[in-house]
Amino acid sequence: MSSAPAVQHAYNDVVASHYDLDPQGIIGQSLDLGIGQLEQEGLLDPSRGWRVLDLGMGTGLFLGKLRTRAGDRLEPFGIDLAENMLEVARRRLPDLNAVAGDAGELDSHFPGLTFDCVCTHFVTGFVPMARLAPQIARRVEPGGYWSLIGGTKAAYPALQARGNSRLLRRLTGAGNRKMDDTVLNPADLREVADTMDAHGFDLCRGETFEPALTFNTFDEFMEFGYRGGWLTPLLESMGLHRAGPIKRWVLDRIAFPVHDQHNIVVALGRKR
Ligand SMILES: C[S@@+](CC[C@H](N)C(=O)[O-])C[C@H]1O[C@@H](n2cnc3c(N)ncnc32)[C@H](O)[C@@H]1O
Repeated sequence: MSSAPAVQHAYNDVVASHYDLDPQGIIGQSLDLGIGQLEQEGLLDPSRGWRVLDLGMGTGLFLGKLRTRAGDRLEPFGIDLAENMLEVARRRLPDLNAVAGDAGELDSHFPGLTFDCVCTHFVTGFVPMARLAPQIARRVEPGGYWSLIGGTKAAYPALQARGNSRLLRRLTGAGNRKMDDTVLNPADLREVADTMDAHGFDLCRGETFEPALTFNTFDEFMEFGYRGGWLTPLLESMGLHRAGPIKRWVLDRIAFPVHDQHNIVVALGRKR
């Protein structure tokens, strides 16, 4: 499991300046599906005020999309470990109420405030749903919402299969590491729905987005996985970000191109 300092370093010092480039476009497409779910539930009606807390909000892409739809009726709040990600978010939403901190300690942030919607988007790989769920339930009023978007354990089957090769494990520095050791994602939509249910949320919308991924070269993979933020702490712990020209040349010959698939749950829960 990645430690909070490793994750904070990864997003603060490596990813913050690249995140919005969104290589392969998957973050933007996933967040649009989340916006679509809110719309289908009739929640983007411009007549209603909306206080929304985004946990692990990153550069504020989702709240930015909500602002475009809901205008000034959106009251945006966010928490993120990485100050440099927050800096980008603050530029995007000047009225953002944001704190640098651990989403897993939600109880200690914004004391006394409740929210119409709490978002956890691509953060449940770092803070497990089971830790977030009881704290989110305490902050959402009955009838309020939890929007979850995140990868599952079924993501990257081709890359995970490459991990069966002992030669590649040695070459990449993977050793005995498994993706699941550092990425704490739920198994699938069912697990997301069950965890929401156990904490008082009915799943009102749920889908699994499985976009294709193509990495023609090692460098293309690193643009996505390392600088793009998808697997940064894992790749850094393997030392792959320091791979020199010879290692990159060998990897290109024996491991690439890779045609893979993501597996992303997009879910909306409503508190009973
Ligand atoms: C993949 S990005 C997702 C950003 C944003 N939610 C989005 O969908 O574009 C993950 C974000 O979660 C933040 N993060 C990771 N662990 C965290 C934690 N324990 N508490 C708060 N933020 C965390 C990272 O700093 C990073 O900005």
